[in-house]
Amino acid sequence: MIEIEHCLEDVKKLLKKPIVLVGMMGVGKTTVGRQLAAKLGWTFYDSDDEIVRSVGKSISDIFSEDGEPAFRDLERTTIKHLLANGPCVISSGGGGITIPETAQAIKERSLCLWIDASVPLLVERTAGGDRPLLKHGDPEEVLQMLLDKRRSSYAQAHVHALDDGLTPEEMTNRILLQIREYLYSHATEKEKEEFVPDALCMTVSLSDRSYPIFIGSGLLKEPELWLPHELHGRDTFILTDYNVRERITDQFQEILKPIMKSVSVMELAPGEQTKSFERYQAVLEWMIESGVKRDSLIIAVGGGVVGDLAGFAAATILRGIDFIQVPTTLLSQVDSSVGGKTGINSKSAKNMIGAFYQPRSVVIDLDTLMTLPKREWLSGYAEIVKYGLIADEGFFEWLEEHGLLMLSGETAEAMRAIETSCHMKAEIVHKDEREESGLRALLNFGHTFAHALEAAAGYDGTLLHGEAVSVGMVLAARLSQRLGYLVQDDVNRIYNHLSGLGLMTEIRNIPFKKPVTADELIETMHKDKKAGVDGIKFIVLRRIGSAAVEAGVSTETVKNILEESMR
Ligand SMILES: NC(=O)c1ccc[n+]([C@@H]2O[C@H](COP(=O)([O-])OP(=O)(O)OC[C@H]3O[C@@H](n4cnc5c(N)ncnc54)[C@H](O)[C@@H]3O)[C@@H](O)[C@H]2O)c1
Repeated sequence: MIEIEHCLEDVKKLLKKPIVLVGMMGVGKTTVGRQLAAKLGWTFYDSDDEIVRSVGKSISDIFSEDGEPAFRDLERTTIKHLLANGPCVISSGGGGITIPETAQAIKERSLCLWIDASVPLLVERTAGGDRPLLKHGDPEEVLQMLLDKRRSSYAQAHVHALDDGLTPEEMTNRILLQIREYLYSHATEKEKEEFVPDALCMTVSLSDRSYPIFIGSGLLKEPELWLPHELHGRDTFILTDYNVRERITDQFQEILKPIMKSVSVMELAPGEQTKSFERYQAVLEWMIESGVKRDSLIIAVGGGVVGDLAGFAAATILRGIDFIQVPTTLLSQVDSSVGGKTGINSKSAKNMIGAFYQPRSVVIDLDTLMTLPKREWLSGYAEIVKYGLIADEGFFEWLEEHGLLMLSGETAEAMRAIETSCHMKAEIVHKDEREESGLRALLNFGHTFAHALEAAAGYDGTLLHGEAVSVGMVLAARLSQRLGYLVQDDVNRIYNHLSGLGLMTEIRNIPFKKPVTADELIETMHKDKKAGVDGIKFIVLRRIGSAAVEAGVSTETVKNILEESMR
């Protein structure tokens, strides 16, 4: 059972400044703000009410008699004044944060939280009200226009919380989980020693495709925390695999039955071979025969294989239906379930057929990891190490110290590693959703080598994805060193960390069924979808914690590195 009381205690203990709620009119800043303040035992202020009180006129009258600029001036001074109050909850008017001076004061002196909701929901909530900006024109168009105009101002908030049709009580709880995530991710090492949250929530911010990621123990038993109301009562298709079915899915199906119209389950064979045209077709035919509709919901319950296939099915059936990711392997929890890359393999190369298609939410229940075999833990761990190597040396150092505990399933360490990984992935996906600026490509560190090794091993369980990534990262670190970026000591550090924990680090350790040559691997790399006109692109490390894309690497250099690891 997730205890919101514990969450409240954490927020009260660690947050020493006001919470300022920003967002569009109708999003519930006042109602939710009041509840939040009541739960925290703090005072609630509504900046609009304070203005009305001080001027003695309604907001509508200030707008019509004095004009919007005069109102914004009053708002700026009122908010500045309220910010001096210490811990409290302030609901600011919808446009306040669009004024640079007001925005700066809010950002510097509070924890600013953006409550975000879809335009249809805002239309519903503002209907019949007395909103000056909605007096003229079609409310939907006006709200859309205002949201488009203000989105970048709201996005300055420290926390982005999504209201997908929640009640005020549910939204208040979600906000608490999100504030706690923010505090956790910004806590000092010392604070983190005592701070072991049982549940957290963060948002992948992608305009109208934004979605929450929930992380916690026992979440699957509490759908009220993560299942949006608008998805209730739908025909639901769960995709899962044989290993997960009895352990997790059967019980989960029973939990969903009273909430959904129907809940059907398709059990797939475990393993990479399931990401195939044949299985993809079988999934689509099953759903079509079962009467899938535009408002049906797909839930992926399983590892990255089930998630990638289910996501691709969701992206393509009826030109796209809603789907939720319930990742049950460490690898899928820290990587594949977040970011919207979905797809299947071709016979000769990985992930060649697919789509960018974001889920409606990601639900990471740490309890599902209890039955995960050790080999799968290690496989997922490789992707965790990747985040440290490409973007956060401090996290890599933490892994060097705590990796063993994490792999033994310690909840505190697992929470820390999963939260940090998801946070980084959400950040990268927010900035480069479709891998266009080069930033998201950095997540492929080690993957050009890994994908070639996986293809050579034949997707039959001989080599797991994370195992291939582990070998691939060692090879990519050596490449970085040959190119003059990484010092040998850092290559050794990476190698020692991975091998010390029992991860695979050399090609010669892979039990290929038939021998493979460096030339064959290089040929496969050329087929990789990341290869461009100027040849294979590699992600290299400039140092631990900083990565870059490198094109034009000589085939000779790559071949030497591969052969060295084969000998
Ligand atoms: N979409 C992306 O962005 C992305 C990113 C990284 C990896 N991937 C893909 O993810 C796939 C690998 O994912 P994976 O490592 O999760 O593999 P997987 O889905 O094959 O799962 C690994 C094994 O663990 C079993 N399993 C799953 N959950 C379990 C549980 N809780 N208890 C016991 N057994 C459990 C599965 O049945 C399977 O045998 C690859 O296809 C890879 O290409 C995708």
